[in-house]
Amino acid sequence: MDISKSIRYVGVMDREIDLFEGQYLVPDGVSYNSYLIIDEKCAVMDSTDARFADEWIANIAAVLGERTPDYLVVQHMEPDHSGSIAAFRRAFPSAAIVSSEKAFAMMKSFFGEGIAEGGIRVKEGDTLPLGDHTLRFIGAPMVHWPEVTVSFEEREGVLFSADSFGRFGSTDESDPWDKEGRRYYIGIVGKYGIPVRNLLAKLAGKDVRAIAPLHGPVLTKDLGRYIELYRKWASYEPEEKGVTVAYASIYGNTGRAAKELAEELKARGKTVALFDLARCDVHEAVASAFRFDTLVLASATYNGGVFPAMRSYITALTERGFTSRRVALIENGSWAPAAAKTMRELLSEAKSITFHEREIRITSAPNDATRAEISALASEL
Ligand code: FEO
Repeated sequence: MDISKSIRYVGVMDREIDLFEGQYLVPDGVSYNSYLIIDEKCAVMDSTDARFADEWIANIAAVLGERTPDYLVVQHMEPDHSGSIAAFRRAFPSAAIVSSEKAFAMMKSFFGEGIAEGGIRVKEGDTLPLGDHTLRFIGAPMVHWPEVTVSFEEREGVLFSADSFGRFGSTDESDPWDKEGRRYYIGIVGKYGIPVRNLLAKLAGKDVRAIAPLHGPVLTKDLGRYIELYRKWASYEPEEKGVTVAYASIYGNTGRAAKELAEELKARGKTVALFDLARCDVHEAVASAFRFDTLVLASATYNGGVFPAMRSYITALTERGFTSRRVALIENGSWAPAAAKTMRELLSEAKSITFHEREIRITSAPNDATRAEISALASEL
């Protein structure tokens, strides 16, 4: 995944990890990208998770041969990218760390006072000349932590974009990007729409010819498409018309109703994504709710409220800034139904939600009357 003869890839692919950030499934692994700019001065862009320190340092040494790096640019201090900084200092003691003031403060918290010795503090607009190449630093606070800086290499037009424009899985640009790019963005950065929009505004007018994120492929083609996706995601706009149907069912009766609705919607030509919240990758279900303009939630009543998988799903939506969507509710309750009321309450944390007028109540199991209602709901959506 080299970008050019003088901007080389020295990152690693983690196929051992079970849950990224302790919660995201990554069946195709996740890469910790690091790049090496070779010029009169050599700069390494970010490090890797600590488990890969030896492999990463060997990658750097293999490219540099007799030379050693002059700088380690630290754009982001989350441990998936900062975990090998101390190992780098031991391997290349003459190199200086280049980073923001906030990142140095975090570095000391993670590694102790000595780590920042000889460090070069940079702020918005500062440059780091390397010879023919020059890095210009652009503050990107809260994309996804407060210390984040992205860097624009002016000669080759490469944006080192930190977490933004990253994705889980493959580092091959020709592999489909959207599904894992969306799941990554909504899951990890989704809450920070305003900071992402601020960053996009700073990048407008820059001649960006490649985007080199900290996860996933380097993007070199059709960059406007990725930027437009990011604009939509950061603005919380639906990407397209469609319905996410997410259900939480105990004995399968609520699930049956949700599946019937999905079939009715498909029969009407709608794009539908159906999720069993107790069994699916919940973060895919979260990303789907942000992707489409309509969400249907179907839940059994449980302990006088809502089934736990549904509670957890709605919380995952609201804590990521879920907003401006149409929501329809289906509840099931055999003696004291409370799921719909509880789902409404949980969604009160989200702004600009339009609840669909028709709310379906199942008593124990779908029957002809509820099927007629499901059919009517499908027509209305
Ligand atoms: Fe990939 Fe926020 O770290």
